[in-house]
Amino acid sequence: MRSPEWDAFTARVRESSDILRVVGAYVSLKQKGNNYWACCPFHNEKTPSFSVSPDKGLFYCFGCHAGGDVFKFISMIENVNYGEAIKLQAERLGIPLPSRKRDAKEIARDQKIADMQKVMAMARDFFHSCLVNTRYGVSGLKYLHGRGINDDTIKNFALGFAPNSFEKLKNAFMKRGISEQLLLDCGLIKRRQDGSGTYDTFRNRVMIPIADEMSRVVAFGGRVMDDALPKYLNSPETMIFNKRKMLFGLDRAKKAIGNEKYAILVEGYMDAISLSSAGVKNVVASLGTAFTVEHARKILRHAPEVCFCYDSDEAGQKATIRALSIIRATGAKVRVLVVPDGKDPDEFIRRHGADAFKELAKNALSVPDFEINYALSHNDIRTMDGKTNVLHAMIPVIAASNTIEKLDLIERLSRVLSIEDGIIKQELSHYRGADAGSYAESSVRKRKLVRSVDDAVMKAGRVVVRVAWDDVGTLAHISSLVPIDEFPVATHCEILKYIMACDEKGEKYDESSAMANLSEEAASELSRILTDDFAGELPRDIYDKCAKVIYLTYLKMLYEEHRIKADELEKQGKSDEALRELDESRQIFDKINRIKETRNG
Ligand code: CTP
Ligand code: MN
Repeated sequence: MRSPEWDAFTARVRESSDILRVVGAYVSLKQKGNNYWACCPFHNEKTPSFSVSPDKGLFYCFGCHAGGDVFKFISMIENVNYGEAIKLQAERLGIPLPSRKRDAKEIARDQKIADMQKVMAMARDFFHSCLVNTRYGVSGLKYLHGRGINDDTIKNFALGFAPNSFEKLKNAFMKRGISEQLLLDCGLIKRRQDGSGTYDTFRNRVMIPIADEMSRVVAFGGRVMDDALPKYLNSPETMIFNKRKMLFGLDRAKKAIGNEKYAILVEGYMDAISLSSAGVKNVVASLGTAFTVEHARKILRHAPEVCFCYDSDEAGQKATIRALSIIRATGAKVRVLVVPDGKDPDEFIRRHGADAFKELAKNALSVPDFEINYALSHNDIRTMDGKTNVLHAMIPVIAASNTIEKLDLIERLSRVLSIEDGIIKQELSHYRGADAGSYAESSVRKRKLVRSVDDAVMKAGRVVVRVAWDDVGTLAHISSLVPIDEFPVATHCEILKYIMACDEKGEKYDESSAMANLSEEAASELSRILTDDFAGELPRDIYDKCAKVIYLTYLKMLYEEHRIKADELEKQGKSDEALRELDESRQIFDKINRIKETRNG
C-alpha cells in the first residue's frame, strides 16, 4: 500500500482531521490544561483516564494503555485495520482515494488472483460433482451419511470428493485449457520430487471447500475416510490462502454473529458444519492452527464477544488457554464453553441437539472461572510449586479484569490457595511493571522477577526513549551503556530498535510510520511517551540521570543472572564454574556501587 501517492493521501487526510472532533463523536471530552479528557471507550471506567492531545494529534489512556494517532483511534473503535481507518476517515471528509496508476506487475498480479479464484471455484464444482453425480463419490457419500451429514448440508457447504487417482483433476482441467502452472499455483497439483511431472494433491478424500469472507473458495481441506494419516490434508498457503487469517465459515456466519452479538469459535471444520446445519449459525472454525490476533480482529468486526468452544480433550483445553492469552489484548468480551459430553461440539450436538447446545452457550463460563478451573485441575495446590503455578497463571487474568471482578478474584484466590491477599496484590503490581508477554511461563519466571521494573525505571525509560526519538544521535550513547535488546522495559526496547532500524536504513521515522509498524503495546507506549510532559521537566535536562537509572537496572539484572547461574552450577556440583560466576557477579556488584557513589557525589 505504501507509495508516494498513498503517503500524500494519508498526510492530507491527517491534516484535514481534527482529532478532537473525531474522538468527540464517540465520547464527551472535557478540557483540562492542554489536554482533553473522557472516560475511556476501550475499557470500563468511572473516572476519566483517557486523554487527547490536540497539539500532537494523539490519544492515550492511562487506564488500559490504548493510544495512538487519529487513525489508530478510528481503527480501534471501528474494529478495522489502520489502512482501512484512513480510508474510512477520508470517506467521512469527502477526500477521494488516490487514483493509483497500477503498474504492469500489479495488473499481472490481480489477473493471477482472478484466475486462481476462477480455478478454485471450478475445483469446488468438480469435487462436488464427483461426490454427488459419479460412482467415484459413493464411498464419500457413505462416509458423510454415516457421520450424520445429510444431503442438504452436503449441497449447502458444497462438500465434495477427490477421486482415488493421480490425475483425474489435472487431466480434466488441462483439457479445459487451464495451464499446469496455474494448477500448481492453486496447490491443486504437486510436482513430483524427482521433477518428472505433476500429480493431483487430493486423492480419495472427502473435500471441504474453504471460502474467504466474500465466499470465494481459497483452499480445501480433505479428510480421509478411515484412520489413515494425516486425517486432514489442507491446501498449501498460496497467494489467496493465508491460514493465520482464515476463519472457516465466516462468510456464512457473519450475519448471525452480528445478530447474536457473539461468535462461537470451534477447532474443526466438522464442528462448524455440524453446528451450522443444526441451526447454530454464528459459528466459525480456526482450521486447527493456533488462534491469532488476526482471527480475533476478523471476528470482532462483526460482534464484540467470542465464545471459545474447542475440543474438550487436553489438547483442546490447552489451546483454549493459549487463545485466551492472545485475545486478552484485544479487549474482546470472552466466554468459554466446554462441552460436557463428547470430545467436541460436533459430537455433542449430534447426541443432544441444537437446543441443548444453545443452553450450554447461554451458560458458558467467564474467562476467570475457566482459567481458575484449569489452573486448579492442572496443579497440586498442596505443594508450594503448585500454588505458585496457579498464582502465576491467574495474575494476567486478574490484571485484565475490571475493578469489581478483580477484588472478587483476589479474594477467591487467596481463599483457595490459602495465601494472604497482600501477596497476590504484590504479584499484580510486579506484573504491571514487567512485560506481560510470557509472565506465566515459569522457566523465564526467575528472570522476569528480576526484570519486573518499578515506576522509577519505567519513567527513566520513557525519558530515554523520548530523547532518542527527538535526537537519534543519543542512541549511540545509551546503547554503549545497555545493549538495546536488554533494555529493561520490553516496549521501550521495541521502540528503540525501531528507531535504530530506521536510522540505519536512512529512513525517516514519524508517529504514523511508527504506529503502523510497532506492536500494539509499543505503539500505545510511544503515544504516551510523546504526549508526556514529564512533570514540566525537559527530557533533555534529566536524560543523564535517567540513563544512569537504566544502566543500573541493567547491571542489577546482570548481577542477578550471574548469581542464579552460580546457584544452579553449585547445585550441579560444578564448583569451579560456580565460583567464576560468583566472581563475575562480585565485579558487577562493585561496579554498581561505584556508579551509585558518583551519583551521590
Ligand atoms: N487439522 C488439520 N490437519 C490434521 C488434523 C487436524 O488441518 N492432520 C485441522 C482441521 O482444520 C480440523 C481441525 O484441525 O478441522 C481440528 O482437528 P480435529 O479435532 O482432529 O478435527 P475434527 O473436526 O474433530 O475432525 P473429525 O471430526 O473429522 O475427526
Ligand atoms: Mn475435533
